[in-house]
Amino acid sequence: MIIEECESTNDLAKKMAENGAPHGSWISALRQTMGRGRLGRKWLSDQGNLYLSLVARVTDQDPLTWIPLKAALATVQAVKKLKSGVDLKIKWPNDLVIVDSEGVRKAGGILCEGVGSRGGTFIVIGIGLNCKSAPQIDQPTFSLDLDVNLLRPILVEELLRELESSTNQERYLEYSLFSRGDSIEWTDLRAPEKGTFTGTFESIGKLGELLVNTSEGRKSL
Ligand code: BTN
Repeated sequence: MIIEECESTNDLAKKMAENGAPHGSWISALRQTMGRGRLGRKWLSDQGNLYLSLVARVTDQDPLTWIPLKAALATVQAVKKLKSGVDLKIKWPNDLVIVDSEGVRKAGGILCEGVGSRGGTFIVIGIGLNCKSAPQIDQPTFSLDLDVNLLRPILVEELLRELESSTNQERYLEYSLFSRGDSIEWTDLRAPEKGTFTGTFESIGKLGELLVNTSEGRKSL
């Protein structure tokens, strides 16, 4: 269902799931007035970009932690179907970025949230993609220059397909911003006072975790 405006499509999709909406139900708004990003951030949501939330049933088939990664993979595949030349990458776990001579710029993001209902446990997958404009935020952003109306059905199809397929680390790595041996820096959000850690990217683990090599050995993030 496509609506003109709402506060957040994730909030509406959660209500849909609570009220018994089946797996695969989705809602998209032309703009959001209180779009939400990860880590409690705001998601600026002007008209022209994509704001879509899909209700996904949780099954035992795959670890829950793979759902955000699958959603990112589906989004990259959908964008490439529409515009094959776009070099959209996934910055673990599910940031969608473009990398070129201007550096790494954010083109979209995904916010997955759990919701319980009488029908079982669901995850709401919320996707925001800069199709028409790049909002000015505290990091470089990029607009993909895509027709949101053409992208929407392809994205839903790719999401459903990806959710049904089994976890595929290789395919995720194909679109990963990080390649084996790349230097990466991170902070522990639960203990930011510990500062920045460094290591090199090794791979993605079975649960979708980031495996890094550090001076103290292999760590999983
Ligand atoms: C991020 O911080 O990178 C994730 C952004 C997720 C934004 C999308 S837009 C559709 C859905 N509704 C929301 O309020 N947030 C998600």
